[in-house]
Amino acid sequence: MNIVVGVTGGIAAYKTVQLVRLLIKAGHEVTVIPTEDALRFVGLPTWEAISRNTVTTSVHDDVARVRHVALGQAADLVIVAPATANTIAKITAGLADDLLGTTLLATLAPVAIAPAMHTEMWRHPSTQANISTLRERGVHILGPGDGELTGGDSGPGRMLEPEELFDHALALLAPQDLAGRTVVVSAGGTREPIDPVRFLGNRSSGRQGAALAAEAAARGARVVLVAANVSADVLAASRHPLVDVRPVGTAAELGEAVRDAAASADVVVMAAAVADYRPATAADQKLTKEEGILDRIDLVENEDIVAGLAASRPAGQVVVAFAAETLADADARRERARRKRERKGVDLLVVNLADAENGFESADNAVEVIGDGGSVVASVAGSKRSVSSAIWDAVVKLSQ
Ligand code: CTP
Repeated sequence: MNIVVGVTGGIAAYKTVQLVRLLIKAGHEVTVIPTEDALRFVGLPTWEAISRNTVTTSVHDDVARVRHVALGQAADLVIVAPATANTIAKITAGLADDLLGTTLLATLAPVAIAPAMHTEMWRHPSTQANISTLRERGVHILGPGDGELTGGDSGPGRMLEPEELFDHALALLAPQDLAGRTVVVSAGGTREPIDPVRFLGNRSSGRQGAALAAEAAARGARVVLVAANVSADVLAASRHPLVDVRPVGTAAELGEAVRDAAASADVVVMAAAVADYRPATAADQKLTKEEGILDRIDLVENEDIVAGLAASRPAGQVVVAFAAETLADADARRERARRKRERKGVDLLVVNLADAENGFESADNAVEVIGDGGSVVASVAGSKRSVSSAIWDAVVKLSQ
């Protein structure tokens, strides 16, 4: 998507660098339009380097391509962060004395602003009147947050954090094609206890599952996220009023939680890495070398949760499974994926290539989605959020 990030002259501009970085990492095309004042806080080379695009403040540059309106016309979203009291007043009045002003007048895309100023300026009747006018016109007002301000004072006026702005931006861009649906996503990796201090586990961080949950919620779905040993850090990415997180530990707990939620769900996505085996008994005391009881662990097989779900699903429910692959040969990988899809009886099998750059513990992923008749219905590499978006596209297509 094409995103214009307007930056105005406030100290919070330094945080917007991170917002641009997050948008770029999620695969968006970003054009930064700072005001002249904004450049006193963060310089032009920073914006160009981070957005990988030319940056100018003036309507008199790149005139041949009618840049003063072209950027606004091509935008899918315009987000102004930070938005100072002065800029808010200018936007309300429709002033167009710089590139940001003309762009805002020329765009039909959703516009969001993230106010940042001292509490007195935020509460001033002029600012409040401008904000109400903008809100009536459909401008999305993001924040401000309440907290510590630059002068050491505290109160409403603080710009939202870049991660929060990023989530708002994605929500504004997301189609509402999952509205009214309930989806279950499992994430993370199960841990099968050996004794009170040891377990059999795997390297799944839960990032892909958390991203799937966040993307589904942004597209309007009610989400149950069954999270197996997912850190709070990773879970933060899925924080959304429509996401209900249910933490679990073992494969048995995960199975129970997923089955419970799946009974009334339209879609189940099993992104969790579930242990295929568990120790036959979990000792209630720590096993020790001295007693010589650590040299062998008897295993019993765990039930295949997703296969069970697929076999007894309610009519119309879409079931998606994942498979981690280390096979480099694409044909061999696909062949194995086709067999696995058949065996599990699922609609879609997402094959992720678990190598150094992708898959477990990393921010990026590369997947192929295998559908009906073993065909490759999607192939995508990128951030786990953009991979999620492609997976939900494939699910939506199936249930149309
Ligand atoms: N799965 C499950 N219950 C299990 C094991 C796996 O529901 N007991 C699900 C996982 O959540 C995932 C898919 O099945 O959606 C992975 O299948 P699996 O057969 O474990 O494949 P791989 O992990 O790729 O391993 P392998 O091919 O070695 O079996």
